[in-house]
Amino acid sequence: MSESPILSTRHGRVGLITLNRPAQLNALNDALMDALGQALLSLDADPDIGAIVITGSDKAFAAGADIAVMADWTYMDVYQGGFITRNWETIRQVRKPVIAAVAGYAMGGGCELALACDIIIAAESAQFALPEIKLAMLPGAGGTQRLPRAIGKAKAMDMCLSARMLNAQEADRYGLVSRVVPDAELQAVTLKLATQIAGYSLPALMAIKESVNRAHEASLTEGILFERRALHARFASADAHEGMHAFLDKRKPVFQHR
Ligand code: HXC
Repeated sequence: MSESPILSTRHGRVGLITLNRPAQLNALNDALMDALGQALLSLDADPDIGAIVITGSDKAFAAGADIAVMADWTYMDVYQGGFITRNWETIRQVRKPVIAAVAGYAMGGGCELALACDIIIAAESAQFALPEIKLAMLPGAGGTQRLPRAIGKAKAMDMCLSARMLNAQEADRYGLVSRVVPDAELQAVTLKLATQIAGYSLPALMAIKESVNRAHEASLTEGILFERRALHARFASADAHEGMHAFLDKRKPVFQHR
């Protein structure tokens, strides 16, 4: 039997998913994206998990969609098969925080997968590019939409039209990633961050993620309204009362994730 295209392990309240096609630099094929989607949904449904990390190998987070598979597809294959929509977008259903831990290449669909996560932690070796133009293709897994929202039109056009590769420091400067860390510390730093996040009240995390995502999808007035409703709903949460009372009592809160 061939090895699983992803590995899923648990570290306390953190689910760690490792992309596992090292010989192909984690090129993203259907088997991998199906397995990734299933793992994400299963961790999202698990009450003992509060945050999810997606990572790759030392050399590549993922070098993009699997070109060997795509090369002979026709329009009807991808249209009727719902290419990208069918299994790549499962990550959009995940309501818990998802962190990408990126070392090495994050190219094409690999960069787009990282962009679909909530936080990107980059190792110093990380390199980000949307080089689809070199194949006469297009960054069609959300890249043309999420990249300009992340780094602005000027930088995004440069990357999409010229295939420009960003190193980790440039990606940090442009706001594409949240933090840059030495390669040897990538996993430890990311798991520590994920563990910290997973220790907070889960419904509060979910409400914050949903509200921040609104910033990209709604007008300011609608976004503020959404945020205000989410804030008001916090007062229906036992954890919010516990959090505030624990502060006043000068003790650590005990969250029930309710
Ligand atoms: C299939 C891939 C691959 C990919 C690498 N490999 N990327 N296979 N799809 N995207 C395979 C190589 O063919 C090779 O297989 C092995 O992985 C190692 O890669 P090398 O090229 O030998 O490694 P290296 O010289 O270190 O170069 C690394 C690299 C280069 C710069 C990342 O592999 C590269 O440019 N890859 C393609 C990147 C890319 O164009 N990505 C965008 C894809 S389109 P063998 O069998 O020879 O050892 C896309 C669209 C998404 O993502 C949106 C929807 C359409």
